[in-house]
This record gives sequence, C-alpha cells and structure tokens, in this order.
Amino acid sequence: MEIQYKLLSPNFGVEINNIDCSKEISNSNLSIINKLIQEKHFIYLKDQSLDEKKLSNFAKNFGKLEVYPEKDKTKKFKQIFNVSNVSPEGIKLEPNDQRVILQKNNERWHTDSSYRFIPSYLSFLYGLEVLPPNVKGGETEFSNMLLAYDSLTKKQKQKFAPLHQVHSYNDIRRLEPSMPPLSHEERENFPPVSHPLIRVHPDRSFKYSLFFTSNTSQEISGMTLTKGRNLHKWLVKYVSNSKFCYKHKWKKNDLIIWDNRVLLHRVKSYDYKKYKRVLIRATVAGKNYVLGPYSNKI
Ligand SMILES: [Fe+2]
Repeated sequence: MEIQYKLLSPNFGVEINNIDCSKEISNSNLSIINKLIQEKHFIYLKDQSLDEKKLSNFAKNFGKLEVYPEKDKTKKFKQIFNVSNVSPEGIKLEPNDQRVILQKNNERWHTDSSYRFIPSYLSFLYGLEVLPPNVKGGETEFSNMLLAYDSLTKKQKQKFAPLHQVHSYNDIRRLEPSMPPLSHEERENFPPVSHPLIRVHPDRSFKYSLFFTSNTSQEISGMTLTKGRNLHKWLVKYVSNSKFCYKHKWKKNDLIIWDNRVLLHRVKSYDYKKYKRVLIRATVAGKNYVLGPYSNKI
C-alpha cells in the first residue's frame, strides 16, 4: 500500500498514517520516506509497536547506526540510546543522577552527535512511556535551520560565513559540572571537532543553513570570547522564534524521525521528579563532514 501522509506545519514535518515500522518496508515506500525526510525533515508515525531490536532494524533501512560514546547509557543493543529518567529496572532516577542531568542538558538546542567529525544524519526516537496528556512539558521541539538561515539579513549572512563552533562531547561536563569525568578512552575516542556555523548542503543544490548547538560549547570561534558568547546567546534566542519551530507532544508508541543536518531540537522542561519519560533512540550516521562556505568541496 502506498504511503499516506499529511503536513504537520506550514514549514516542515509530516505525519505518515499507514506504515508499520516493525515490519519489512518495501523499497518503493522506503524511497517515499527518504524523499519526505529530504523535503520535510521531520516524520511522525503514531501507534507503532517497537522495542530496541525492532527500532534498530527499522532505522538500519536508512544507513549505518551510530554507537554511543559512553558505555553505561546503552541497553541490550549498543546502538540504542536511552533518553530516560528511569533506570533499566523501571525505577525513577534521582535528580542528581548523571542520566537525569544528561536529560536536562537536552533542554538546550542541539543536533545529535555534533561532537563527531562526521555528525549524524537521522535520529529515530520512540516513546515507551510519556507524560500524561494533560501535563505540560516533555515535548520535543524542533527549529528549522534552513529557514533560520534564509531569514538572516545579508549583513548577518556575510558576518557568519567564516565562523566556526568547537563541538566537544567532554564539554557537556563544562555546562553540567556535577557529571563524573569521562574515562581516558572515551575522551580519546571523541576529541573536540570544529564545524562551520553556516552549513552548505551539496544534496540541496548547495543551499545554506545555520549549524550550531548549545548543549556543549556556548562560544563561537573566530571572534573574541565575549563577542563569541554574545553571538551564541543571540543565536539561541533567534532560533527559538516560533516561526522556525514545531513542537511534538508525545503519546505512548509514537515514533519520530528527523534530519539532524537541518533541524535543531530540544526537550521542553518537565517535572523530572514527578513524571517518568522513557524514550529510546537509534541514530543513523552521517556520510560526510560538515561543509561550510569556505570549505574545499568533496
Ligand atoms: Fe537530542
């Protein structure tokens, strides 16, 4: 059966109604989903019946899966990342537990695995346990970086073109100092990397988008520390404008997919002590390093 879908917002996002992600997907449907990802960047599939294995199997249709930097956040499959304030035994974690602190860090705008030299392509996030429907918070919000770039002034575009940001997995500890240090091996595997602030997309006729995060470093390179921090602060506020954003309100068994190359995301704050929120994520690795306006073309 051919895929049926509807638009979720004027600027990006679609809901697909008639796909069972636990089953094998036909090649023709796969190519429709790939096209929708490219054009609409965010996909919502409700009432899915997935577990770690089924989620990995479905995500593998779109490429190679990433393995996570810290061993203790994986479950049965090392390609599955827990986005959860609950222990594997089902017990709500204490607010000072490093896994909860890491969840709180996700309230900052970011793209998944920007700390890699080749950052991720797609994220697949599945809701096992979510907040009650009448409770505010816990939504995942997205901001469209293609739109955000297009809406900059000509002067801003020129100013941002040569700038970079340093992305470092270890820098999460700088923002969240109560987290225990990474092991030597973990640090060795994920050294800081630098990406251009303006990302060039060869598969979109070399269109430009903004590309930055606020969950690790809070500076922009290529300017003084104060100016870099001020610009970073300005960017965070700028991309939070509702005209670039779409918010996903979770229901149990929702699956969402997004393109990390062009969307930023963050979780909206919720009462971590009161409510359980258990999601699992698989992430498809990117294929190319981030090109900027001054990069040599591949
Ligand atoms: Fe994330």
